[in-house]
Amino acid sequence: MNEFVYWNPVKWIFGKDTVNQLRDNIAPYGENVLLVYGGGSIKKSGLYDLVLKQLDGFNITELAGVEPNPRLTTVKRGAQLCRENQVSFILAVGGGSVIDCAKAVAAAAKYEGDPWDFITKKEPVKNGLPLGTILTLAATGSEMNSGSVITNWDTNEKLGWGSPYVFPKFSICDPYWTTTVPRDQTTYGIVDMMTHMLEQYFHNSEQTDVQDRMIEGTLKTVVETAPKLMNDLQNDKLRETVMFAGTIALNGMLQMGYRGDWATHNIEHAVSAVYDIPHGGGLAILFPNWMKYNIDVKPERFKKLAVRVFDIDPGGKTDKEAGLEGIEALRHFWTSIEAPSRLADYDIDDSRIDEMAGKTLFNGPFGNFTKLDREDVTAILRASL
Ligand code: NZQ
Ligand code: ZN
Repeated sequence: MNEFVYWNPVKWIFGKDTVNQLRDNIAPYGENVLLVYGGGSIKKSGLYDLVLKQLDGFNITELAGVEPNPRLTTVKRGAQLCRENQVSFILAVGGGSVIDCAKAVAAAAKYEGDPWDFITKKEPVKNGLPLGTILTLAATGSEMNSGSVITNWDTNEKLGWGSPYVFPKFSICDPYWTTTVPRDQTTYGIVDMMTHMLEQYFHNSEQTDVQDRMIEGTLKTVVETAPKLMNDLQNDKLRETVMFAGTIALNGMLQMGYRGDWATHNIEHAVSAVYDIPHGGGLAILFPNWMKYNIDVKPERFKKLAVRVFDIDPGGKTDKEAGLEGIEALRHFWTSIEAPSRLADYDIDDSRIDEMAGKTLFNGPFGNFTKLDREDVTAILRASL
């Protein structure tokens, strides 16, 4: 293992009726609240009314209409609202996009220059308004980490950034409020959290037996639960399991002592920056192709995943053969929960492959399990057509 420090200051408030704890948790941060939400799902579900009831007596400013794949222009609008209304606390109510946007607004409100400078890591974030979240979609883990992903449509770039200043003070996760998530977004969320675990599973450190088992166990649980959930979308017990898995998949706990790969996330962000497709949909297409392309780096790792998560019988097979069966099982599983498997499913052809490959190389060759350069990315994108 590598040496590590694990520090996660997010107060994770999980379970039924926990939105009732909002008022007590927000009270220490002053009365001027910026309420951030998306295209209206929280109004339909009734969560918006419940939140307003909890915030009775607070001064509320709203940043509504945050887009899936949230935009820099919306972040700037939010920062402006914070300044104009002396906002003391930001409350994000929604999925990963709403939370990521709120994080960027929190940092931008305390930043003199253009927020794109800290998103591109030209300048460090040195401060941020405090923020909290109420999660409505199990997927990204953004509710319990310090990362955020923002798209700039002037330059067609979608970039991840992070700062300890934007860890939420608290995140309220009541599975009930995820029972309205539609079928396609449920699928994307499951693919996203599984991919977070897979990205971490492919690393080069030794002695990670406990971490391996934690990932394998959580992945296996999601594989067992997801098909049941797809047949029973309003089942809050199944939603509970998936919501719990989504948070621990990316709150840093599974990644102690090593560095995951994360190349496929970079490639997916480039695809989304050009075609604005859902993050989980892009990952479902790309990840099995990244796996096939890199299986020779450490076939035994692919075999371990195949045997332990997908119950592949390793008898009489090479590590690579068993590993390839595992990749097929993963693809088959994602197809069974209605995830896309080819870029063509989003009408994406080969005309902009060069452009996408170029975007992935924003910071040079990338990936921690194995490094990818332009030729590698092009091959993975071509295999995904
Ligand atoms: O906008 P509203 O009306 O709320 O509708 C949303 C949106 O249309 C809807 N939705 C959310 N909760 C709902 C619901 N509909 C009905 N009932 C509910 N309870 O779902 C749609 C998608 O929402 P979005 O927030 O975009 O999805 P997700 O949570 O998957 O977030 C995706 C974004 O997170 C980034 C992705 O790149 C993408 O931009 N990521 C952030 C990460 C992080 N901060 O750690 C890591 C991830 O790898 C990822 O890159
Ligand atoms: Zn992701």
